Amino acid sequence: MAEQPQSPALPATDLIVELEALAIDLARTAGRLVVDERPDAVEVAETKSTATDVVTVMDQRSQDHLIARIREARPDDAVLGEERGGVTGTSSITWVIDPIDGTVNYLYGIPAYAVSVAAVVGDPTTQGAWRPFVGAVHNPVSGELFCARSGGGARLLRQDGTESRLSPTSCTEVGQALMGTGFGYAAQRRERQARLLLDLLPMVRDIRRIGSAALDLCAIGAGTLDAYYETGLNPWDLAAGWLVATEAGASVGGFNGPGESLTWACAPGLAGTFPGLVEVGTSQHLQD
Ligand code: IPD
Ligand code: CA
Repeated sequence: MAEQPQSPALPATDLIVELEALAIDLARTAGRLVVDERPDAVEVAETKSTATDVVTVMDQRSQDHLIARIREARPDDAVLGEERGGVTGTSSITWVIDPIDGTVNYLYGIPAYAVSVAAVVGDPTTQGAWRPFVGAVHNPVSGELFCARSGGGARLLRQDGTESRLSPTSCTEVGQALMGTGFGYAAQRRERQARLLLDLLPMVRDIRRIGSAALDLCAIGAGTLDAYYETGLNPWDLAAGWLVATEAGASVGGFNGPGESLTWACAPGLAGTFPGLVEVGTSQHLQD
């Protein structure tokens, strides 16, 4: 039998509690920045993998803000961010941040985008070699903040100061499942993703393409979607939402854990059926 890689050790509970509070504060302050300073006409600062994979000035400013705050509070930790990489560190902790997840929604003014902040152990650039232990995903338009820490459950903090524990739906049948998904920016990948969706769509109730993987994963934890899958995600898209969904009691996985090749998440009652369907479909359509 192949030897399983050892799961990286987590920090002590006191530190986990302290870093969850820091993640919440970081997501809130960056969220305030991107909403308060969103120009009427959001401009594209640069493009990345394709002409539709855009970065706005506010993505850059949000990431700069997050990095400066993390450096101040945790100078030994590393940071891996979506825009222009990040910084190296000497501790065992890396902050994995998405300064605006759902940048296209932000560009168009669709109120489904989020700041995603996670603290992880292990190497977040290698699928299966890392795991988040603290996560905060904040939609600054709705004011909702989804957060979790390892062993501490997942919560929704609302703008009015109230909060509630998150839990997934009780869905047990794939045919009844409302399923989220997303697509990459490259035409060739999108074509393959469409083929996979063609297989899955007749099997489920319906699909939603919300436009933010971080919010999709939180929706699984919060019970506003039953199932979700996506191929091509980066660590910053999924790190915080992975923990929120898991701590809420949902099942989350992929090939050797959530990651670029496949990320799926579902209500616990679908854990025996849904992952197999998306894994088979992904192997057929997205792996050469
Ligand atoms: C994207 C969003 C989208 C998902 C894409 C991601 P970005 O992140 O999460 O929902 O389908 O795969 O790249 O570019 O808005 O930060
Ligand atoms: Ca993202």
